[in-house]
Amino acid sequence: MVDERDHDTSSSSLPSLSNHLADTTLGGSADVPVIDLSVSDEGFIVREVVKASEEWGVFQVVNHGIPTELMQQLQVAGKQFFDLPEKEKEAVAKEGGFEGYKRNYLGGIDNWDEHLFHRLSPPSVINYKYWPTNPPQYREVTEEYTKHVKRLTEKIFGWLSEGLGLPRVALSQSIGGDTAEYALRINFYPPSQHSELTIGAAAHSDMGAIALLVPNEVPGLQAFKDEQWFDLNYIDSAVVVILGDQLMRITNGRFKNVFHRAKSDRERVRISWPIFVAPRDDMSVGPLPELTGDDNPPKFETLLYKDYIDKKIKGWALEGLHSLLKPPQN
Ligand code: OGA
Ligand code: NI
Repeated sequence: MVDERDHDTSSSSLPSLSNHLADTTLGGSADVPVIDLSVSDEGFIVREVVKASEEWGVFQVVNHGIPTELMQQLQVAGKQFFDLPEKEKEAVAKEGGFEGYKRNYLGGIDNWDEHLFHRLSPPSVINYKYWPTNPPQYREVTEEYTKHVKRLTEKIFGWLSEGLGLPRVALSQSIGGDTAEYALRINFYPPSQHSELTIGAAAHSDMGAIALLVPNEVPGLQAFKDEQWFDLNYIDSAVVVILGDQLMRITNGRFKNVFHRAKSDRERVRISWPIFVAPRDDMSVGPLPELTGDDNPPKFETLLYKDYIDKKIKGWALEGLHSLLKPPQN
């Protein structure tokens, strides 16, 4: 597991695509799907999550079983941490690795944030050194929230597997079952007067399998579909489900790895809490044999997850180089 959005953040190392897409128009004709998980017809839920995964690669879920109060506690703890003086936040600063706290206000305008990144599960990969001890409830709240997110992730994997005609455990197993890694990134985007540009998180797809994200009430997250950007409407207590590169690869392209970005707000602080679910570095991941055949040959190479990451990061570096050599597109 790496913090994929924390490599060299100078704009030349980011996907150049983000710049080309920055001014495409916002869609209004369709909306990112919202799926109610409390309906009694599970077959209906299966169909809805599969459809959303095929068409969008992103959806929101409501009535998902994570207590609203716990979500609020998570948000309060995160906000309290970022409100601390810089010196105190640096108690959990990154030290050359990918876990810990970092400020990114200097490395170009595309990625402008402060963030905290640390692993949550399985227990053998947790490094509490990077978990804040202030506010004091941080650990307990985060651990409790993680339990619920794991349960919800397993449910979603189960429905998606079933919708693909596979055993319920298929997708979960394809990323290593209990060895799959969960990590939290708290993104803190300060207000910016330049928020019409993509300041916040530059356009990207997530490298792992899936991410479950909770935002604060300030909108900013956008998803790309049919050559347009769509705003995700803020829904109180909803969880945003974002499919990453590995679910696309495992399903041989049937599910989308949604391209998404986050804008900061002109006046208000925006905060988001994605939890990323990814295979271990040494897990081999590629299209499931059950989902490929003579009429549907594998579209993706089977790779160790760490080799996939290396390739993707090298790809960014190359794109960055191309964008430096090419004249500006507009
Ligand atoms: C991410 C991400 C979006 C957001 O951290 O990978 O896509 O809303 N964040 O902050
Ligand atoms: Ni993302």
